[in-house]
Amino acid sequence: MILGIGTDLANIERIQRTLDRFGDRFRNRVFTEVEQRKSERRRDVAGTYAKRWAAKEACSKALGTGLRMGIAWKDMSVSNLRTGQPVMHVTGWAADRLAKMTPPGHEAIIHVTLTDDHPWAQAMVLIEARPIADSGPESGGGA
Ligand SMILES: CC(C)(COP(=O)(O)OP(=O)(O)OC[C@H]1O[C@@H](n2cnc3c(N)ncnc32)[C@H](O)[C@@H]1OP(=O)(O)O)[C@@H](O)C(=O)NCCC(=O)NCCS
Repeated sequence: MILGIGTDLANIERIQRTLDRFGDRFRNRVFTEVEQRKSERRRDVAGTYAKRWAAKEACSKALGTGLRMGIAWKDMSVSNLRTGQPVMHVTGWAADRLAKMTPPGHEAIIHVTLTDDHPWAQAMVLIEARPIADSGPESGGGA
């Protein structure tokens, strides 16, 4: 079943201006080391950050919280599989929220997809709850 969806559009030029103005203060407050490493070695540095910014906003919507002042942005982070496919990881408050919205006997899977076409970066996040294989009635396992 689907627990939540979220989408966001981020302006790459606005992210570029924020990077220019606040530099490492912005980078370190919002992006994990993995996100920074990936973004800094790209040709389109701001575009790569902007996709990850959009992913965090989209994830907070899918979690049903939206972004509030003071939330830990780094508790929602994007990494990439070898194929390039993005993966969303949640920790801290975001992991707690995910656990609370996941029905018993299910595991939550976060799907994320990113795209950009200057000056826009877009993300969509979908949270799925999948029954845990050995908790079904056939197996006799408890939830
Ligand atoms: C996946 C692909 C269609 C992306 O198209 P694009 O027009 O270059 O880029 P878009 O702006 O639409 O999307 C880029 C995002 O797609 C996502 N993406 C990349 N590869 C992906 C894949 N295999 N599956 C799902 N999503 C993927 C990434 O999140 C990427 O952004 P990021 O690198 O900043 O995380 C394109 O890269 C492609 O065809 N790749 C073929 C596979 C390939 O070349 N692999 C090389 C590594 S083995």
